[in-house]
Amino acid sequence: MSNGSSRIPGFYRLPVTERRRLLRLHADLSEQDMRTLEGGGIDTAGADRVVENAVGVYALPLGIGLNFVVNGRDVLVPMAVEEPSVIAAASNAARMVREGGGFVADADDAVMTAQIEIVGVDDPDAARKRVEAASAELLALAHATLPRLADRGGGARELEVRTHPGRVIVHVHIDCRDAMGANMVNTVAEALGEKVARLARGRSGLRILTNLCDRRRVRVSARVPASALATESFDGAAVRDGIVAASRFAEDDPYRAATHNKGIMNGVDAVVIATGNDWRGVEAGAHAFAAADGRYRPLAVWRQENKGGGDLVGSLEMPMAVGTVGGTLHAHAGARLAQRLLGVTDAKQLAMIVGSAGLASNLAALRALASEGIQRGHMALHRKSQPLPVLEPDLAVEGGRT
Ligand code: MEV
Repeated sequence: MSNGSSRIPGFYRLPVTERRRLLRLHADLSEQDMRTLEGGGIDTAGADRVVENAVGVYALPLGIGLNFVVNGRDVLVPMAVEEPSVIAAASNAARMVREGGGFVADADDAVMTAQIEIVGVDDPDAARKRVEAASAELLALAHATLPRLADRGGGARELEVRTHPGRVIVHVHIDCRDAMGANMVNTVAEALGEKVARLARGRSGLRILTNLCDRRRVRVSARVPASALATESFDGAAVRDGIVAASRFAEDDPYRAATHNKGIMNGVDAVVIATGNDWRGVEAGAHAFAAADGRYRPLAVWRQENKGGGDLVGSLEMPMAVGTVGGTLHAHAGARLAQRLLGVTDAKQLAMIVGSAGLASNLAALRALASEGIQRGHMALHRKSQPLPVLEPDLAVEGGRT
């Protein structure tokens, strides 16, 4: 553990105090951090500074996803989630991926998009040309609106004009660096609205970001040797083939794709929430992207690698608007602690870990569905949330044995 490995056999068997001791060793945590783990990271006074009409705080269980290797680096992945088995299953899947070398990920620059809608436009095509002709000036205005972002190397990058009958929509693509970026993008949208309306000869309509941030994607791939997929009753090749068949089902059927993607979001949201990010934005982006070509599709697919030993290979691609600065981080010590545990220093690194947690969760779900079924493991862990009987380690879902 102290060597920085995310592989901690038997972690699930330890009492919480011992797990915390190991975390402390790993991440050099303080007494204050220990209190944060106990208290949840925000108290009522903090909540009162963040939301209106605050009356208290609402807590979620926080656990650690184990065994993750992302781009060659071991990471302990904080996950905040109320559903039993999500953390165990992701940890178990990460262990299988580890056998294939770990997750390989890359992320786009943190480009978010402001939408400026202009309505009542008589000739949208002519308006588009006038706005495009002024794009350098508009970009300079956007840039000047966010001088601190420019100092950090970010800022408005590109302007794009779309038209609908009677309406012009101007997209300003802004590199938000390590922020999620909603506030900055909305500031630009509002700052440019009137000028764009004059150019388009229409009235300023909505001015707000789009959560379909398809220029800010994360891509993650994973390779798993078939032998690592074996369960008590199924050999590895059979499970691999079952996972590929399950992927094809999701590719063919939007009803299945929705559930397939829900399994991905089990992992994604848990890390997004733990790190203080806007999970509604990530959810909106994920599902809009999944349906971007007019048909709802899976965000991750699995195939058998034909070369060599027939490994299972999975790949995920989705928008990922998460930040390591701003948002609720200032108010939430738990979110700051989670980011410290991850050892991330920029938004792209965080996006890659979030995507890896999503792909791990998907792999775990498909493996269970392609073998013994989801209920066996699920119910064993659900029982843990009942007062009695207590979960016996031997009954733990295979996903629990990490
Ligand atoms: C349950 O939280 C998630 C699953 O339904 C995902 C899936 O079916 O792929 C098990």
